[in-house]
Amino acid sequence: MDYKKYIADKIKVDGVSADEIYSSIALPPNSQMGDYALPCFRFAKVLRKSPAVIAQELASGLSPDGVISDISAVNGYLNFSINKEGLAREVLSEIASKGEKYGSSDMGAGKTICIDYSSVNIAKPFHIGHLSTTVLGSALYKIFGFLGYKTVGINHLGDYGTQFGKLISAYKRWGNKEEVEKGGIHAINDLYVRFNNEADDEMEKEAREYFRLIENGDKEANDLFEWFKSLTLEYVKKIYDRLDVRFDSYAGERFYTDKMAPVIDELKEKGLLKESEGAQIVDLEPYGMPPCLILRSDGASLYATRDIAAAIYRKKTYDFYKCLYVVAYQQNLHFRQFFKVLELMGKEWAKDLVHVAYGMVSLEDGAMSTRKGKVVWLEDVISKCVEKAYKVVSEKNPALANKDEIAEKVGVGAVIFGALYNNKIKDITFSYDKVLSFEGETSVYVQYTCARASSVIEKAGDFKPVLPEKLNFTDEEFEVIKTLAAFPDTVKDAADKYEPSYIARYAVDLAQKFNKFYFDCKILTAEEGVKDFRFELTKATLRTLENALGLLGIGVPDKM
Ligand code: ARG
Repeated sequence: MDYKKYIADKIKVDGVSADEIYSSIALPPNSQMGDYALPCFRFAKVLRKSPAVIAQELASGLSPDGVISDISAVNGYLNFSINKEGLAREVLSEIASKGEKYGSSDMGAGKTICIDYSSVNIAKPFHIGHLSTTVLGSALYKIFGFLGYKTVGINHLGDYGTQFGKLISAYKRWGNKEEVEKGGIHAINDLYVRFNNEADDEMEKEAREYFRLIENGDKEANDLFEWFKSLTLEYVKKIYDRLDVRFDSYAGERFYTDKMAPVIDELKEKGLLKESEGAQIVDLEPYGMPPCLILRSDGASLYATRDIAAAIYRKKTYDFYKCLYVVAYQQNLHFRQFFKVLELMGKEWAKDLVHVAYGMVSLEDGAMSTRKGKVVWLEDVISKCVEKAYKVVSEKNPALANKDEIAEKVGVGAVIFGALYNNKIKDITFSYDKVLSFEGETSVYVQYTCARASSVIEKAGDFKPVLPEKLNFTDEEFEVIKTLAAFPDTVKDAADKYEPSYIARYAVDLAQKFNKFYFDCKILTAEEGVKDFRFELTKATLRTLENALGLLGIGVPDKM
């Protein structure tokens, strides 16, 4: 049952919508204040009364029932206590029956969400700067899917531009097939870096010529380009597999080559295109933005031109309800600009485009640098974290079998969790020691808690998963129950705010509460009846932690 909704339905405030009441109901920080609370401060203005009076008046109009055991007004809050047995019975039976679907919903049925994420650049390093977009996008993909939306994961490949001309030029000068085949993306990148270091005017000219050849369909140039592209994709797909990241489309910038002309025609037709110093632009001055460049003076299209064409294509192809772009905040202006251009073109759906911006990730041991050759590859970060995880895990439990498999889950999980734990807009400094700590707010802590719960369940053997009719719950037990009950709402909030961090924080919170319960209440030695209930609670916690981590793309080892 949705308790928030149950409570919200009982409350009517003149001039305040039911939705607003529902979303105002919160979980108080401690249960002395009840299990749910409605702060009345927001209503003071509409009702012209003090929050305390409003809370009093609302309280006097309500009485306890089978679900709500107590209602009180305290300092402008309307507090509700829930019937504990009722809540426990309901949550535990829901988790038992829904299993890995606990927390899911069909609220998104019939709606499609496109998510543009990771969007790697062909023949360029897949570096630590791509970590957030990849894991954030992937988590949103899973979260929206869990809520019943049809999700379309799009890798908007950076596969267009003069850099490919440079690459071909560099390859023809210094490269050879064997070396590139052996070195893959690293060899390609080396050629590209070398070109940038050594290029003079002559070489730049040659690179532009090669790019033109690609554009004009020259076979040799295109074969080389496709080869570089397939080597890059082969490489990144291995990383995606490790991170449990999936895409439904790899339609990159190049895909829109033949879809830009109609956009330019439409812009002209609608009188939006202006000439400025030979280039074609859309003037955005009235909106306080620099102009959006559509065509350069040499007629070449731009990043924004392709994004406009891509948005139109996606709307036509998927008829999305929302189209998300998980891209660093450095590109804020770009998104504001081309969203505005689409709006000016009269696309009413431009309001459904969302830039999900996130902050920078840097490494503790040396800030990430995009300067030539000084790039931190994401693959290296993952491998190093897995290596360290192996050490950490073996120290904790030397007798562990399948250490490699476990280290992979722990190490990869730590990289993902490290990138997702904070509010996405914050810049973060990634520290191997911090993300691999057994104490604190880490996936390792959560995974270890899962292993602890698994071991309790293993020892429990066959137990009867029934909830005794009447139990005096300990505070620790009830905190776990309440937290379990909050999972479905947490998933919805995470989707609503595009914040997988809510789920990461939730997992840590639930793990902490479970550990408190585990240490303060005897499980295996509890009296009959109570023991079965505690086993059931342990099982429900494990299930929910697995669901939460699963939405972030993190696996859970049975043992640690
Ligand atoms: N490839 C781009 C980059 O690395 C990101 C593309 C994001 N997606 C988009 N539709 N613009 O900066």
